[in-house]
Amino acid sequence: MILEKIETRTARAGVIGLGYVGLPLTVAIASAGFRVTGIDICSEKIARLKQSISDIPDVTNAVLAPLITSGQIQVTTDFSVLRELDTVNICVPTPLGENRTPDMRFIIAAVQQVAQYLHPEQLIILESTTYPGTTEEVVLPELNTPSSTIQVGRDFYLAYSPERIEPGNSTYFMTNTPKIIGGVTPQCTHIAKTFYAQFISKTHTVSSPRTAEMVKLLENTFRSVNIGLINEVALICDRMDLDVWEIIDAAATKPFGFMPFYPGPGLGGHCIPIDPHYLSWKAQMYQYHARFIELATEINNEMPKYVLDKIIHALNLQRKPLNGAKLLILGVAYKKDIGDIRESPALEVIRLILDKKAEFLYHDPYIKNLSLDERETYYSEPLTVDLVESVDCVVILTDHGAIDYDWLVEHAQRVVDTRNATRSVKKGQEKITKI
Ligand SMILES: NC(=O)c1ccc[n+]([C@@H]2O[C@H](COP(=O)([O-])OP(=O)(O)OC[C@H]3O[C@@H](n4cnc5c(N)ncnc54)[C@H](O)[C@@H]3O)[C@@H](O)[C@H]2O)c1
Ligand SMILES: *[C@@H]1O[C@H](CO)[C@@H](O)[C@H](O)[C@H]1NC(C)=O
Ligand SMILES: *[C@@H]1O[C@H](CO)[C@@H](O)[C@H](O)[C@H]1NC(C)=O
Ligand SMILES: *[C@@H]1O[C@H](CO)[C@@H](O)[C@H](O)[C@H]1NC(C)=O
Repeated sequence: MILEKIETRTARAGVIGLGYVGLPLTVAIASAGFRVTGIDICSEKIARLKQSISDIPDVTNAVLAPLITSGQIQVTTDFSVLRELDTVNICVPTPLGENRTPDMRFIIAAVQQVAQYLHPEQLIILESTTYPGTTEEVVLPELNTPSSTIQVGRDFYLAYSPERIEPGNSTYFMTNTPKIIGGVTPQCTHIAKTFYAQFISKTHTVSSPRTAEMVKLLENTFRSVNIGLINEVALICDRMDLDVWEIIDAAATKPFGFMPFYPGPGLGGHCIPIDPHYLSWKAQMYQYHARFIELATEINNEMPKYVLDKIIHALNLQRKPLNGAKLLILGVAYKKDIGDIRESPALEVIRLILDKKAEFLYHDPYIKNLSLDERETYYSEPLTVDLVESVDCVVILTDHGAIDYDWLVEHAQRVVDTRNATRSVKKGQEKITKI
């Protein structure tokens, strides 16, 4: 029954949690012709979405507007609509709680709502990044209680499918990135796969939800560990007076067996600094201590301190102390050309320089204001000649593409470049300190 509704795209779809993952997913499902209901607990967000205002850069208001006005997408804070929905994708946050352990509260809250309205021929899919076992150990028991009359794989269907989008990447987006799917039973996998095949060009099924959960954690741990390795290589190169950037570029000419990763001021974003801890936490329950993950975290977390050392060094060349120095931070987003500041290493670098009584201003074309530890609010300064000339040092923390680095170096007294953003600057290389 549900299969036929999916194949004819008459199934009514639902998405719980309309953030970076849920909103693009809602649009993708709707664009395939399904009627979709988006559910979020944040009433301000729902009010904005009703006016076709998106907070997510990957979903423009122009794309959203026709889907909202036509009713193809409906949004609500009212979970009772779940009664009418055939498919439900759960895309709620999975942050770290105390002692960097998984915080399952959002998943549990969402699933308890789903449980309340669960009905036969309903497909439930978890997309939040989480540790292996979550779907079967946390989600399933909420849905399939000993007293429940409906059974997974027979009456309703449950699967895990990780989201893999890279925010801001226009080459690979949700619908052309292969989707990993692992259902609780073969029928669950089959139905979930049929659903995704309606709007995603390639699906790849695995033997269980735990496998699919582990796939996502492998992908993100792989990045965290490789970035940790290259950051360590950067620290070694610094002592040896070698240019790590030149070395990476040269190594990357090898067409096989090498993949370039780049050093930087530290890990950022909602995934890479957080997800590996979900794996190490779960590994501990199997008496396994995940050493690579901890080591990479340790090295990556020390990078802001290394950037501070580079700033001190750059000021020292001008016989200036850090205390009282005026610094311009260029880029506070966690990566190039996006407006996302979550877990950005810039925040840690700023904390360190304020601790040493330096003054800072910042410019970021994508982030108009920022608040530090919810105390003070800072505003992005217009990038003018006066500003660049007036500061003791410009610190490039994010290599946004819109900046004219030749112009910047020309007017700056000193530059600390943590991203090799000034690689093609012709004049003034002697003013630049790289990591
Ligand atoms: N951002 C990414 O690039 C990315 C990529 C892959 C995977 N993920 C994973 O996807 C999940 C969601 O991440 P995100 O970046 O979309 O988060 P987000 O914070 O952007 O959005 C989450 C949304 O869920 C809502 N929400 C919270 N609890 C809810 C509940 N009980 N019921 C309904 N709505 C609720 C919030 O109000 C918010 O709008 C996380 O597990 C994350 O690790 C994120
Ligand atoms: C998107 O990802 C591909 C593959 O890694 C990469 O080559 C490309 O530069 C990325 N594009 C953007 C805009 O990040
Ligand atoms: C900062 O910007 C955000 C949106 O990016 C906004 O919600 C917030 O109110 C702003 N804060 C101040 C103090 O302007
Ligand atoms: C970084 O810049 C140097 C020039 O300073 C260049 O030789 C190298 O190829 C660049 N590397 C990367 C990875 O951008």
